[in-house]
Amino acid sequence: MSDPAVLTETDEQTVDMKDIVALCKRRGFIFPASDIYGGLNGFWDYGPLGTELKNNIRDLWWKSMVITPPIGPDGLPVEIVGLDSAIIQNPKAWVASGHVGGFSDPMVDCKETKLRYRADHLMVLVPKDGEGRWIAYQEGAESDEVEKRVKKLGSGRSISAFEPTPLMDIDVADYDKVSAPDTKTQGTLTEPREFNLMFHTYVGATASEDSKVYLRPETAQGIFLNYKNVLDSSRVRVPFGIAQIGKAYRNEVTPRNFIYRSREFEQMEMEWFCHPDEAEKWHEFWITQRKDWWQSIGVKEDDVFIRPHDADELAHYAKDGLGTVDVEFKFPFTAPDFGELEGIAHRCDFDLTQHQEHSGTKMEYIDPVTNERYIPHVIEPAAGLSRGVLAIICSAYTVDESRPSGMYLDFHPSVAPKKAAILPLTAKEDHVPLATELYKELREHYNVDLDIKQNIGKRYARQDEIGTPFCFTIDNDTIEDKTVTVRHRNTMKQERIAMDKVLDYMREELKKF
Ligand code: GAP
Repeated sequence: MSDPAVLTETDEQTVDMKDIVALCKRRGFIFPASDIYGGLNGFWDYGPLGTELKNNIRDLWWKSMVITPPIGPDGLPVEIVGLDSAIIQNPKAWVASGHVGGFSDPMVDCKETKLRYRADHLMVLVPKDGEGRWIAYQEGAESDEVEKRVKKLGSGRSISAFEPTPLMDIDVADYDKVSAPDTKTQGTLTEPREFNLMFHTYVGATASEDSKVYLRPETAQGIFLNYKNVLDSSRVRVPFGIAQIGKAYRNEVTPRNFIYRSREFEQMEMEWFCHPDEAEKWHEFWITQRKDWWQSIGVKEDDVFIRPHDADELAHYAKDGLGTVDVEFKFPFTAPDFGELEGIAHRCDFDLTQHQEHSGTKMEYIDPVTNERYIPHVIEPAAGLSRGVLAIICSAYTVDESRPSGMYLDFHPSVAPKKAAILPLTAKEDHVPLATELYKELREHYNVDLDIKQNIGKRYARQDEIGTPFCFTIDNDTIEDKTVTVRHRNTMKQERIAMDKVLDYMREELKKF
């Protein structure tokens, strides 16, 4: 079993990524799953601070979608309701959605090293002269088309999992020249085989084809399966959205780049059901909303990029050409390029039509005013929560050699695991009770930390490393005049304020971000 903490060749080129992974482990953000047993490739555990960070991002997304959804183009608030569907559904649902037949990646094995790779990570597969045959090119090959493809793949993106790729038919002459990363010998790779990414298990006591079920590879289908239930049980009217946050599972051939591509991860997806004639308007609307949202929680403007999919990337459901637009982020391992953080797809009526055909349940919507009957079109902002955690950490990671920690996490306070730390200057008795008093007051309003032990420099360094915006220090002057020192994370500036005004001070300062 490979050690998930060991980075891939791509990671090793970027010192920052190693530092980020080390920080995440040292400070309790993210650990390799089953760490004491050597880990399990593609699985990660969130530690105390990582859990807080992830929950904050999750809750902000939920608030921005379900509790206070945005104001629509007509000036009225849009309507979105929440859902929490089962991870395991009737397997027929995954046949209808296309996942049983088509949710696969091309996989190759190296006959020499016995290592397994995703074919499209090692080579670029280009259709040959419309013959339905494919030629394998490796990075460095000279052709505009190949270079374009290599660039895309280099940014950590894969060719759409749904692309109908006849990968078995590779031009052998070229294929023999392909070499695997871990050997210098050419031609050691097996031909690509399609590998379905869905994990499966069995329900009940007997393991047979009849009892085979799948762990959901996306949260989206749970929403389509409940579209009718939601419509019939609540007062929503088209256009409206259904939002869901939860785990998804993909047996990725090569999980990599820390939590960027893992086998268990979390998604935040919203399916927006609208009239087909209005789909384009809503697509534009959600693209802007989603980009703005990532920025509102601290992703720096220069680090996000909106990229429409090229025509050759369009997914199976994008039949009228609106396609998908990705919100991309400049991860250290993709820089200067960007990698996908969220996809905003126009899924047309693909999913509802498929489920209508396969289940026999009518998915038509009848407009209560005009009596028009239609299957709504769907705009889908589909974000990775796990990938969001990584983007937020990478965006916040700021090198600063002038401070003992050598860096700080410039978290937006809304996502910071701890909003403030209360630090008695010494563990002397008269500092600690005052610090505890302040801590008890603040924790009713914010997630704050009371840190008593170690010298103050080390404690400031720890708070810098975990991205706490403010530190309040209690010292001898506090005993005299009931004032505390405030230290600002980013500037390291210190000022003195009254202890009974700390809560008001925090409220005011947090508004400034
Ligand atoms: N329902 C559409 C859908 O699932 P997707 O682009 O496959 O679309 C949406 O996934 C988001 O989920 C991606 O933008 C990414 O942030 C996240 N994601 C997908 N696969 C992932 C993986 N293996 N590890 C971590 N995040 C992943």
